[in-house]
Amino acid sequence: MRYLTFALGKGRLADETLELFEKIGITCEEMKDKTSRKLIFTNEELRLRFFLSKGPDVPTYVEYGAADIGIVGKDTILEEGRKVHEVLDLGFGKCRMCVCGHRESAPLLKNHELIRVATKYPRIAKDYFYNVKHQTVEIIKLNGSIELAPIVGLSEVIVDIVETGSTLKENGLEVLEEVCPLSARMIVNPVTMRMESERIKNLIMKVRGIVQ
Ligand code: PRP
Repeated sequence: MRYLTFALGKGRLADETLELFEKIGITCEEMKDKTSRKLIFTNEELRLRFFLSKGPDVPTYVEYGAADIGIVGKDTILEEGRKVHEVLDLGFGKCRMCVCGHRESAPLLKNHELIRVATKYPRIAKDYFYNVKHQTVEIIKLNGSIELAPIVGLSEVIVDIVETGSTLKENGLEVLEEVCPLSARMIVNPVTMRMESERIKNLIMKVRGIVQ
């Protein structure tokens, strides 16, 4: 039996995924050692391999078949636009992609004004403004602390992830519009989907059984 390889987005997502997998008898003891610098971990008995990567790289590994299965946020799937099958909503890591800004900026979203939008997610922002709202905007890519942009006058609004809303609140900003809900998803390589359909179906069924 060949190995099925899992790519997990580093951090909380990976921790929650491993907890979830434990519940269906998929364990990987090696991975629990946080001091280890090992990059890939194996469960010989089940013929499974796991590795951690930066979230945005997970769909890349899965598209090219270097990983058969990936666990990653819906935001990353939408932003990366890779050829992968999204097969399951894992129900954790729930948050929302939103257009945010100062309350006074809300009218700028109603009148098709040419505004600047700062975001870590240019593809999602572009799709939302151009294809959903039909508003021409200038998109400015940032790499983090997006909430700074409207405060220092880089942009009128931002497109960013909102979880508890406390970052917005503490900085005098608000959700102006919701783009889409987000959560952790399971993605599968299209070839694996066909070649290992029984193992994949079985895995999906077991995981679905505990996330519902
Ligand atoms: C994310 C997101 C917001 C914040 C939202 O940032 O970009 O800034 O979390 O969470 P909240 O609604 O619970 O306050 P992250 O901490 O991942 O870092 P980043 O700003 O560097 O992207």
